[in-house]
Amino acid sequence: MTDPAPEREDPAEAGQGPVNPQGPPSDAGLELDEEARERRRAALAQIRTFGDPVLKSPASPVTEFDDRLREEVERMVGLMHDAIGVGLAATQLGIMRRLLVFQAGPDAPPTPLVNPEIEWSSTQLATAEEGCLSLPGVVVDVERPLHVRVRGQDAAGEPLMIEASGLEARVIQHEVDHLDGVLMVERTVREQRKGALRALREGTTFSPEQEAEAETAPAEA
Ligand code: NI
Repeated sequence: MTDPAPEREDPAEAGQGPVNPQGPPSDAGLELDEEARERRRAALAQIRTFGDPVLKSPASPVTEFDDRLREEVERMVGLMHDAIGVGLAATQLGIMRRLLVFQAGPDAPPTPLVNPEIEWSSTQLATAEEGCLSLPGVVVDVERPLHVRVRGQDAAGEPLMIEASGLEARVIQHEVDHLDGVLMVERTVREQRKGALRALREGTTFSPEQEAEAETAPAEA
């Protein structure tokens, strides 16, 4: 995911642009110097994008908690930072194992989560805009449970339990979806899914605002 967007239920937290679980879909609106832009480009080049079959395939559990796993975690945290995302799943790098990293906010520590299982989700739902480092240029509204409890392991194999709300809960659910081969476009409403898939095919951009504009725009002869 990209930039955190506020939950619509809480307008007090609004004002930061779309909740982008994996970070901004494009450089537009990001105030980056040339070096940061270059780092972002280099990171994005390593991330699989729409159409790559790895994004539709479920990952297998991690069984070895060795140095290689810790190196992968380090690499994923570095790529997430460079790409200015708030989460990254191993499958987005073509590594078909149940491993994700997330950092919901600049002051939160980057957290690796291995073999995550969402064991409880709230019936209370929230809708917010999401972006995805694997779906460049696309933002869609996604409705998800507002709170979740997730069990898994840390990079050393120790049991880990996380209770998350708001953006953090959204990012975790978005990344766990990646490990199951599910993309955010499958979680949005039909009209937005159509618009987003068209943009991905044509290499253009899509956002719910764009769609709203198109609907209200006067017909052109
Ligand atoms: Ni994503």
